[in-house]
Amino acid sequence: MFCKASLVTLALALLSTAITAHEHAGVAIPFQKRNSLTKADGTFDYVGTVKHGVKIANKYRNNLLNLQRNTGQLPPQVSVIPPLAALPARLAALEHEKRQKVPLTDLNDDEEWGGHITIGTPPVSFFVDFDTGSSDLWIPGSSCMSCGAQHGKYDQGKSSTGAKKNGTFTITYADESGASGPIYTDTVVVGGVKATAQYFSAVTEESSELSEGSTDGILGLAFPAISNLRQNPFFFTAIANKSVEQHVFAFKLAANGSELYVGGTNTAHYSGSIEYHNVSSDIGYWEIGGASVHVDGETVSDIPEFETIIDSGTTIMYGPPADVKTVYDAVKGSKVYNEGDGLYSYPCDSPPALAFSWGGKSWTVSEANFNLGETEPGSGDCVGALSGMNLGLGSEVWLLGDSFMKNVYTAFSVSQNAVGFATLK
Ligand SMILES: *[C@@H]1O[C@H](CO)[C@@H](O)[C@H](O)[C@H]1NC(C)=O
Ligand SMILES: *[C@@H]1O[C@H](CO)[C@@H](O)[C@H](O)[C@H]1NC(C)=O
Ligand SMILES: *[C@@H]1O[C@H](CO)[C@@H](O)[C@H](O)[C@H]1NC(C)=O
Ligand SMILES: *[C@@H]1O[C@H](CO)[C@@H](O)[C@H](O)[C@H]1NC(C)=O
Repeated sequence: MFCKASLVTLALALLSTAITAHEHAGVAIPFQKRNSLTKADGTFDYVGTVKHGVKIANKYRNNLLNLQRNTGQLPPQVSVIPPLAALPARLAALEHEKRQKVPLTDLNDDEEWGGHITIGTPPVSFFVDFDTGSSDLWIPGSSCMSCGAQHGKYDQGKSSTGAKKNGTFTITYADESGASGPIYTDTVVVGGVKATAQYFSAVTEESSELSEGSTDGILGLAFPAISNLRQNPFFFTAIANKSVEQHVFAFKLAANGSELYVGGTNTAHYSGSIEYHNVSSDIGYWEIGGASVHVDGETVSDIPEFETIIDSGTTIMYGPPADVKTVYDAVKGSKVYNEGDGLYSYPCDSPPALAFSWGGKSWTVSEANFNLGETEPGSGDCVGALSGMNLGLGSEVWLLGDSFMKNVYTAFSVSQNAVGFATLK
């Protein structure tokens, strides 16, 4: 958890040293990512975790709707788009109670930390969440009354390179959570990397959850197939604009020193070579196949090879409910925390070594990254950052978010159409 003073220092540091040039002609954007779904007292944030799950389920529902509209297709194994997910009523009541009790400013729970980008001429700075699991850029617009006062706002009238486009952008994260607004093009700069005539939405409506969030908006880094705007996402425009030498971007996610590197990989952060795996589908995700899961060095053999989506905009890891149950069956002392929510615990003093492999090295999730906190103070049981959830992605697709990405250096290569992992330094 950050204290307020360190937040201020961080913000100042980000402003003053937002861009660091490195070898390979790429650019590093330092940023701070989500901390965790653990409360300040070290216990598991149950409501927060289920809420995050609802948001992720609906993000993938939006992606499916976009894919179907853009390509006329759904992924193999997916026959219907799931209904909008909602927070279960019993948890919604708890959440409502909490909201009434807590002053607005304290609702910022450090869940989302982003990095700076600029939009327009002259450039205006925005603090966004870099999301490899979606494909659109949106930030608040100047006329948005419901958008948080602390957030940057885009005013097309003040940008000499801005243009209004037809249509409306809408994103729904839950019944009462989402954003919508008009569409523009303008110059977008991430690090030193410039995309001109980049499509984005400057939203004029934002739900309270988003308006209270610590990032202004989202910059999607997945493929055009799932773009709601039906336009190239930022990195693809940057490639079309010849703004990047290498068609690769890479993440280091860590408690300290997180970085998005645009236009290559930053060898300061990893050792050895990058183990690349071809993207296994053309449905718009950074999805790679041939995955297996391991507990304490043993392959969980009852689970056939599966597909994995690597998503920086998801906090934990999700798998099909039956497979996740099989994984925890292999964990000594594991217990069901809440079956309906797909949550399990394990003895805090004997954490499992959970690892994933795609046919090469085995990449282990560290204890710190697996532990979402104690079920209750002193219980000795900790909730694991792998949860069972039906995401409407098909029965063999897992979603690996920050809990996985924090253990590796992750490279996303458009030129090779592949995702790669390397050992963090
Ligand atoms: C966009 O809207 C303008 C004004 O209503 C219209 O003239 C134009 O044809 C529209 N363009 C497209 C591509 O729909
Ligand atoms: C950048 O790409 C966009 C979209 O393809 C295009 O409209 C724009 O003219 C390009 N700008 C440059 C400088 O190449
Ligand atoms: C963060 O990492 C940097 C460089 O690796 C180091 O100088 C700094 O002390 C670290 N800060 C914290 C709070 O750990
Ligand atoms: C990955 O894709 C490339 C083409 O982009 C192909 O040449 C290569 O054989 C593929 N590798 C594997 C392991 O399938």
